[in-house]
Amino acid sequence: MRDIDHDLIARRAAPVPRYTSYPTAPNFAASVGADDYVALLEGVRDTSSLSLYLHIPYCHELCWYCGCNTKAVKRYEPVARYVATLEREIGMVAAHMTGPRKVTSIHWGGGSPNVLSAAHIRSLADRVRARFEIAGGAEIAVEIDPRTLSVPQVHAFTDTGVNRVSFGVQDFDPAVQAAINRMQPFDMTRRAVDLFRDRGVAAINLDLVYGLPHQTLATAERTLHQVLRLSPDRIAAFGYAHLPSRLKHQRLIETRTLAGPVERFQLSKLIAQTLTGAGYVQIGLDHFAQPSDPLASRQVVRNFQGYTTDQATGLIGPGASAIGRIGDTYFQNATPAGEYIACIDAGRLATARGLKLDAEDRLRGFVIERLMCDLQFPGQELNSLFGAAAEPVRREAQALLAGDSDGLVERAPGGFRVTDRGRPFIRSWCARFDSYLQPGTSRHAIGV
Ligand SMILES: C[S@@+](CC[C@H](N)C(=O)[O-])C[C@H]1O[C@@H](n2cnc3c(N)ncnc32)[C@H](O)[C@@H]1O
Ligand code: SF4
Repeated sequence: MRDIDHDLIARRAAPVPRYTSYPTAPNFAASVGADDYVALLEGVRDTSSLSLYLHIPYCHELCWYCGCNTKAVKRYEPVARYVATLEREIGMVAAHMTGPRKVTSIHWGGGSPNVLSAAHIRSLADRVRARFEIAGGAEIAVEIDPRTLSVPQVHAFTDTGVNRVSFGVQDFDPAVQAAINRMQPFDMTRRAVDLFRDRGVAAINLDLVYGLPHQTLATAERTLHQVLRLSPDRIAAFGYAHLPSRLKHQRLIETRTLAGPVERFQLSKLIAQTLTGAGYVQIGLDHFAQPSDPLASRQVVRNFQGYTTDQATGLIGPGASAIGRIGDTYFQNATPAGEYIACIDAGRLATARGLKLDAEDRLRGFVIERLMCDLQFPGQELNSLFGAAAEPVRREAQALLAGDSDGLVERAPGGFRVTDRGRPFIRSWCARFDSYLQPGTSRHAIGV
């Protein structure tokens, strides 16, 4: 790989958010609470279509790199209690909604939704169906840990309508797997994929992570070839977010075994070259889709799960730490499962924080989302959507273009577009439009 500019990477590797929302979740505040959530739920009208995100914050064991809101559980009892609470919350939320509750997309995320017993998967899905109207053709997706998947769980998910499955893989190299506490041989993943395919689920996603301990270009290349043997429809290749000061279990990973910014850049390039070479279309920063997948042909948007084609106008997020959005307001439930359960047990919704977007947030959020999805400053749409109010942001875009001497952005109708060379740094471009970002913050991981 000859075109590596070490100086450029060093300058661009500053910590920046992943921009799964704008403003990002660390900016949510306790000024938004359960009463605001209730008022907005009551206002949801006929034309609204909803997306439902069900959060399961448990796993059998923790992977040492994990940055998700989850906890290892050895006994089933806390999980059973959590499911009962989740079912109760779903009922409470639905009771506040007087209009039709039409759901066009459901996502079971975590943690690992397949910590749930088959019986609980069925009862939770039944509860959702009893309280919401699931639109024909709705996407029902689940995140699965292949290491702990049972046949009854597969039957429960597919019987209740799951039609897209994301499997955690990260890396197939045994030395990398040992260093992240996640032993998962290739055949184990292949079995999990086949179990769902045999039950008619055609949409298969695999998650990879680059920048993990002991990963090299050679190990990554082998992993990619194994991934391609499974022909997933989508592949997400996330840069490892290493935040040991916040996440204690990440301290079990020795920092000296991690790739530096240049190696991370090389790994991300290898992934993009290998997957596009195999016919995948690169979407935004870190997703790849087969040309026949809707992600490659439809308007892509960004949400908390990454890139999606979900066009729902509202997001309901039952579960501890889950985030929802209605209209211009984000809501997030209490993160500790105990606190979440205590609220619901007391008959109160568990909203702990949130944020009501103002006009400037909407404008900057639109720019950041389009940059993350299309790699293009949306100058033309800004006129019709925001008029003269967009002028300061337009000037910032001009200054950004004028200040780039590295060939990372180029002039395009409406402003600028990010070049292929600039793509690995999209989050840094977005950060230039983020008015909340504190320079030098330790909340975010490295930007390549
Ligand atoms: C909820 S997990 C997927 C389902 C299941 N729990 C599993 O791991 O198999 C979501 C994904 O987030 C990614 N991820 C987790 N921690 C990360 C981190 N620190 N940095 C980057 N990606 C991470 C991994 O690719 C993981 O598969
Ligand atoms: S990566 Fe997945 S399985 Fe591993 S700890 Fe995180 S949520 Fe659990």
